[in-house]
Amino acid sequence: MNAIEDGARSAPNKGGGGRREGRTRLNQLPEWTALGKHREQLGEAHLRELFAADPQRAENYTAQVGDLHIDYSKQLVTDETLALLRDLAAATDVFGLRDAMFRGEKINATEDRAVLHTALRAPRDAVIEVDGENVVPKVHAVLDKMSAFAERVRSGEWTGHTGKPIKNVVNIGIGGSDLGPAMAYEVLRSYTDRNMTFRFVSNVDGADLHEAVRDLDPAETLFVIASKTFTTIETITNATSARNWLLTGLQAGQDAVAKHFVALSTNAENVAEFGIDTANMFEFWDWVGGRYSFDSAIGLSLMIAVGPEHFREMLDGFRLVDEHFRTAPAESNVPLLLGLLGVWYGGFSGAQSHAVLPYSHYLSKFTAYLQQLDMESNGKSVDRDGNPVEWQTGPVVWGTPGTNGQHAYYQLIHQGTKVIPADFIGFAKPVGDLLPGLVAQHDLLMANFFAQTQALAFGKTPDEVRAEGVPEELVAHKTFRGNHPTTTILAAELTPFVLGQLIALYEHKVFVQGAVWNIDSFDQWGVELGKVLAKRVEPALTEGAEVEGLDASSRALVAKYRSLRGR
Ligand code: F6P
Repeated sequence: MNAIEDGARSAPNKGGGGRREGRTRLNQLPEWTALGKHREQLGEAHLRELFAADPQRAENYTAQVGDLHIDYSKQLVTDETLALLRDLAAATDVFGLRDAMFRGEKINATEDRAVLHTALRAPRDAVIEVDGENVVPKVHAVLDKMSAFAERVRSGEWTGHTGKPIKNVVNIGIGGSDLGPAMAYEVLRSYTDRNMTFRFVSNVDGADLHEAVRDLDPAETLFVIASKTFTTIETITNATSARNWLLTGLQAGQDAVAKHFVALSTNAENVAEFGIDTANMFEFWDWVGGRYSFDSAIGLSLMIAVGPEHFREMLDGFRLVDEHFRTAPAESNVPLLLGLLGVWYGGFSGAQSHAVLPYSHYLSKFTAYLQQLDMESNGKSVDRDGNPVEWQTGPVVWGTPGTNGQHAYYQLIHQGTKVIPADFIGFAKPVGDLLPGLVAQHDLLMANFFAQTQALAFGKTPDEVRAEGVPEELVAHKTFRGNHPTTTILAAELTPFVLGQLIALYEHKVFVQGAVWNIDSFDQWGVELGKVLAKRVEPALTEGAEVEGLDASSRALVAKYRSLRGR
């Protein structure tokens, strides 16, 4: 039996899934030390040599999960590296924590919450209990309610205050209540009802709402107010402004709100206080983290756009990868592998960032979505017991769709001084409804996709450069060191089913890393301080109020701001 299936060797998951007191610190585990030694032994080993030594490397270092074909042969790893990484996963009880998550244990210890986004895509007959209650029937009741509502809006049966059908949907939310639906709406544009308009407003900068509504008819507009807590200042401020815009535009009273506002939230009290009929509230629960929530009620705008069937296909994709992560052995468990690769580069090669480079225009917001998923989850510097960590945790996640980045920042990846592991995501077929004349461009897009990972891995040696007749003084400039690690994720087509698979893959990858690093990937206390200070500073801007504790720099900036505003 592989060590990882045998449970933790250093310390089992003692804290009922939450705190894991008494465990050996990560960097004192023999498995960690072994990886460090192995890294030294690998030295300057080059991917050119690793491929030359193993003619089967491309086949051997390829995995499949659902529709996702994953080639990790261009990663700077050997069989020994992978075995040592799996040993580390065993020693840190990654699978023990995984099982605790799927069982509904309160593994988010600092908030004393279960972490059950996987229940959002569980089949109807599954049983998943939180505090002794099976949550699956509630999940499906909300999904059914969302489906019925989405159909009524899509068919024109749901009408606004003046009797006109809804043609525009404006989602107002921020962070996890915006990034997921906004990203997925872009990804699945070809599946959307092209006769309707969908907009996503998040920024408290009034320009965002202004641009979203300026050309819309309020009589045909539905606002979907997405906020788990229904206290987030940006969302409540924008929702209040939207309500004013609507009532002014319709020259109507509060009673018009019911037909033009729905809420997605866990907080019925605040929803009712805002004036939204709680019959038009779509519920979710505290065991769904904001950044893991877009397959909950938070996906309503997306469901209206693509229809309930496509939404459910997407949930099937999530579920497929959940099952893979839950059951696949360590050797073939893809989220485990991808998570461990990140641990490897962060821990032993000094990598500070991770690029996600989708070769699909429709994935233009995918990396921004992953930024919250990964960085809000694993941007932590204390472990589950509150001790400072002495190892790298979450990387800076960044990237934009190819081929644009090739003409902007790829230079730094190719010839800069930094270690930047990258994921390349591409599709064999172009999206269905492209104009016929544009379909042919897909091969050019994908030629770039394959060329980049080859160039990054194998580079160009000084001898190869010289052989092209390049003058000696330019040889160093035109040499590509190569050896830049990449994973290639290739699927036939970008469908709702495949999108669900992709997102679940990254969710579980982030989980694996948090488990190894022994941090709480499900809280986000780090965003609180800024929120509190913003509330304190606002009266200083508007009324010139004295703000206690404002530092000298901020005080001077506030004074400058006020003078620039003529106050
Ligand atoms: O401030 C961060 C955060 O709490 C995120 O975790 C969350 O996704 C976002 O704000 C929005 O929160 P809410 O859905 O409660 O408005």
